[in-house]
Amino acid sequence: MSKTSVSHPIFARVYARLSPMMDRGGVAEHRQRLLAGLTGRVIEVGAGNGLNFAHYPPEVTSVLAVEPEPHLRQIAQGEAERASVPVEVVDGVAERLPVGDATFDAAVASLMLCSVPDQQVALGELHRVIRPGGELRFLEHVRAETPALERVQRLLDATIWPILGGGCHAGRDTAAAIQAAGFAISRLDRFIFPEGRVPFPTSPHILGVASRPAEGGDA
Ligand SMILES: C[S@@+](CC[C@H](N)C(=O)[O-])C[C@H]1O[C@@H](n2cnc3c(N)ncnc32)[C@H](O)[C@@H]1O
Repeated sequence: MSKTSVSHPIFARVYARLSPMMDRGGVAEHRQRLLAGLTGRVIEVGAGNGLNFAHYPPEVTSVLAVEPEPHLRQIAQGEAERASVPVEVVDGVAERLPVGDATFDAAVASLMLCSVPDQQVALGELHRVIRPGGELRFLEHVRAETPALERVQRLLDATIWPILGGGCHAGRDTAAAIQAAGFAISRLDRFIFPEGRVPFPTSPHILGVASRPAEGGDA
């Protein structure tokens, strides 16, 4: 049975405080890259406190932002009012999106596929709601490519990281999960953020574009 709600009140309050600072420290530029070139109807899942909303290009005609955590959703509702494209914020979980099949030109997953209980269920839902030929844009921290950091991530994920991070896992192989869900990845940038001499467990990131293949053909 899939989840129908998310409650991480302490994490939500910490994230609401820290994330605007992280945006000023460079995340905002990645959000800008993530969303550049999007058009039409977009669904953003796990929208958090709405920090992507200011970065949607004017060619986006509407954004349905799904966020299950009540505190973050309330902040996102304020951000939606300030956004320059129409944004509607609704309650819901990635495992059961409250929308019909193939109803969106694109979906956005940013820093949330680390937190869903089952990536394949969430990605299956994203695949369902994007129209054939439509896009999934993703920005996620992921499994390290260096064995030492990967070991650290594995240890953290088996112990304290999900408890501290509202269900977050430091070391998921999200690019592989996106492909396993039936998407074709057409762009994949790997980068370290933030950069530093000592890597943070969530420094390895991916940013990219995947397509739901058009029916009977390529993406
Ligand atoms: C680290 S925050 C990222 C928020 C936002 N996407 C951003 O880019 O700043 C992770 C988000 O995933 C959401 N989340 C966790 N589990 C979820 C689920 N099962 N379905 C949808 N969203 C979920 C959390 O409530 C939170 O908003």
